Amino acid sequence: MRNRLTLAALAAFAIAADARGAAAEDLTLYCSPQIEWCDLMVEAFTRETGITVAMTRKSSGETFAQIKAEASNPRGDVWWGGTGDPHLAAAEEGLTEEYRSPMLAELHPWAQKQAEQSGYRTVGIYAGALGFGYNAEMLAQAGADAPACWADLLNPAFKGEISVANPNSSGTSYTMLATMVQLMGEDAAFDYLKALHPNIAQYTKSGSAPIKDAARGEVTVGIVFQHDAVTQRVEGFPIVTVAPCEGTGYEIGSMSIVKGAPNLENAKKFYDFALRADIQSRAAEAKAYQVPSNMGATAPEEAPDFSTIKLIDYDFATFGSSETRARLLARWDSEIGALAN
Ligand code: F6P
Repeated sequence: MRNRLTLAALAAFAIAADARGAAAEDLTLYCSPQIEWCDLMVEAFTRETGITVAMTRKSSGETFAQIKAEASNPRGDVWWGGTGDPHLAAAEEGLTEEYRSPMLAELHPWAQKQAEQSGYRTVGIYAGALGFGYNAEMLAQAGADAPACWADLLNPAFKGEISVANPNSSGTSYTMLATMVQLMGEDAAFDYLKALHPNIAQYTKSGSAPIKDAARGEVTVGIVFQHDAVTQRVEGFPIVTVAPCEGTGYEIGSMSIVKGAPNLENAKKFYDFALRADIQSRAAEAKAYQVPSNMGATAPEEAPDFSTIKLIDYDFATFGSSETRARLLARWDSEIGALAN
């Protein structure tokens, strides 16, 4: 009798665990911004809707590669965040669903343009300008002049003192590559990256890792989106954020629904939720300082002020195209990545 009861209890437990397992697949979210913001979004969405979310954080290029690899048997529902270029490439390759959210009219023109440009297969959720940050204490120890321009990063005083991500995995680093090509022309951009290489300590997987390395004093400079440098400053590290003097590129952080999403209705619910002003206004709680795409959302006070940054007219159509992306990455592998091996 006792054994039977134990067995019954075990069976009940197994059923409950199963139900939780099934519920965990109400929505599968591929998340590419900072993990703290991913966690906040999941928590807020589940609290409001009761829909449970299985979330993984991976960099933009990695997520793009994963969605591509899973195309014949899609597992993800929504890809939230990450740089816009690979979202545009995914749209072009038919890897994402067309969806016209009723929230579109509330978005800034730059976010709506991202949707129009992709045939409504992606949409802008935030914007962020590229730049770099340096550790003021490390700089003082090295006795080097404060870098203000991209050209200053070539200073031999920074040998092995700069960290930047690998553009294959990281959308941040791809944005840097595309920015250099737009600022200098392609051959000159690769010459610049080759000249910069001796100063690079490592090419990280994630785009924000370089400024975390600088915050911890492992390197002096991290090439990142400016808002990621601001986060480290707010955390209390001696990081100074720089908007490079020659001008710089920017991202339109984007969101897409995976083509063939197993939970399409829940995916649309998340999509509409993520475009809401009140939800976007919560980013600062996660120390995420991008500029939100909903016109009614409050931009965090700490967000870098775009009006003071010399921005290039970033050509999303060209640099978000699959062909350009694949070609530039192949050239980076053979001319820059090869130097790191
Ligand atoms: O850390 C946040 C962030 O900079 C986002 O603004 C951006 O979309 C994303 O990270 C890019 O990450 P990664 O370079 O790792 O693809």
